[in-house]
Amino acid sequence: MANLDEEISRRRTFAIISHPDAGKTTLTEKLLLFGGAIHIAGAVKSNKIKKTATSDWMEIEKQRGISVATSVMGFDYGKYKINILDTPGHQDFAEDTYRTLTAVDSVIIVVDVAKGVEQQTRKLMEVCRMRNTPVIIFVNKLDREGRDPFDILDELEAELKIAVRPLSWPINIGAKFKGVYNIYEHSLDLFTPDKQKATERVEIDDINSPLIDEAVGETDAAKLREDLELIEGVYPEFSVDDYLAARTAPVFFGSALNTFGVKELLDCFVKIAPSPKPVQAEEKTVSPSDPGFSGFVFKIHANMDPNHRSCIAFVKICSGRFERNAPYKHVRTGKTLRFASPTAFMAQKKSIVDEAFPGDIVGIPDTGNFKIGDTITSGEEIHFRGLPSFSPEMFMYIENTDPMKSKQLDKGVRQLMDEGVAQMFTHQFNGRKIIGTVGQLQFEVIQYRLLHEYGAQCRWEPMSMYKACWIESDDAAALENFKKRKHQFMATDREGRDVFMADSRFVLQMAQTDFPKIRFHFTSEF
Ligand code: G4P
Repeated sequence: MANLDEEISRRRTFAIISHPDAGKTTLTEKLLLFGGAIHIAGAVKSNKIKKTATSDWMEIEKQRGISVATSVMGFDYGKYKINILDTPGHQDFAEDTYRTLTAVDSVIIVVDVAKGVEQQTRKLMEVCRMRNTPVIIFVNKLDREGRDPFDILDELEAELKIAVRPLSWPINIGAKFKGVYNIYEHSLDLFTPDKQKATERVEIDDINSPLIDEAVGETDAAKLREDLELIEGVYPEFSVDDYLAARTAPVFFGSALNTFGVKELLDCFVKIAPSPKPVQAEEKTVSPSDPGFSGFVFKIHANMDPNHRSCIAFVKICSGRFERNAPYKHVRTGKTLRFASPTAFMAQKKSIVDEAFPGDIVGIPDTGNFKIGDTITSGEEIHFRGLPSFSPEMFMYIENTDPMKSKQLDKGVRQLMDEGVAQMFTHQFNGRKIIGTVGQLQFEVIQYRLLHEYGAQCRWEPMSMYKACWIESDDAAALENFKKRKHQFMATDREGRDVFMADSRFVLQMAQTDFPKIRFHFTSEF
């Protein structure tokens, strides 16, 4: 029987995040190639809806199909077991990405060398910072013309608000790109554009070695030495502890498309990236090596087949050993459940597993038992936290357009909210239901899925709204006073908590100034 501690320490569970088009899919694919999980480039389908296809339902359905297959990609690399959690590329699904980030122990951020830090990356980094997730940055597309690497480092530091430390360094860029010097391993990797093969490597024991001049020419060798000297002068020595504490992000340069710099990234990653960490539950900190099994649902994926409404709940294992058919407690409902066909994700295949370990994700077929954030244990009464809902950015009233189908509509909306597709609020003033999302696309998805999966029809009525924020106060009278004064802007979320619906930034600022005893929160967990 596998040893629990050994299984934990060899696991690396992480997500690759980027702004669309920076190269996340390409990098994922190359990592799978190195792990022997796939054999040819092009095997991983891009998990993204092209920008032009926002109203193309076939695309959305295709995307949902693809994303089940590529939601989690597990493979062995040397002695390590790697789990890559995929995140949706389209920004309208950002909430899905936020939740996936609660299930990973570290993150690799891909940045396009020409574009630098883009908006989506900045937002995702905020989530990483909130959770103290260690990040490694991969600056991609060095084979194309781009920015000066020192400028990129400055930008990363300023925009992502984290100290950076290059662990590899490019020799030229674009058409003149010759390779990268691996600061972490002291070797020189020479660039040969090739989409399938790894690169040629020259081991260097000293930066003054003439081997460098031979390989890249005297001028570039001199420039490299100068750059490295500057790096050593400017950046403190790399500290794994600083990385693990999310204070410093190591930076690698390369070209995912050309499989360049990817193996170096992976080799360093498995060595320094954290294995599953303790997870905070409401009642206690749960250590992965605790003997009792525990885990939480971070994602629910609806079945593609509308006639058989079943879902897959993705469970991140936090502690102990997960075993097939063992009786587990579903803490929210108190029910005892047995899972006869849990699936693990190896490469792009799903297969039934008998056991799994902390850091692993198991997929559990579900017919409506689970909600995002649910905890499952081998008996203990604990609740995992850390799956906050973020303040949505777009709001619409949802209206039923087929009075004969109001039951179906209610059920559909409830289940879609359980899946975490969007958030629902009830306006206290007029009792109307408000759906809040992070992107326009979600409204279309909801409308489409309600019709196709539940036979219910809805219509959206626009409302002008800036932000929904959860409010609380230590002073009950102050809270009551606020709610009375703002009653036409008050709503409740699905758990019955008070939410203030500010219709403009100005209104929110005024409320914050006028009611100092009220705390305004922009995520549901505080
Ligand atoms: P994403 O998942 O982050 O959205 O990005 P993806 O990997 O799909 O890459 C976006 C585009 O960038 C793709 O081109 C991909 O081939 C290209 N790319 C990725 N890495 C590199 C690199 O190192 N160098 C260069 N030059 N290009 C790179 P595309 O034309 O949009 O798609 P495709 O038709 O090639 O699939």
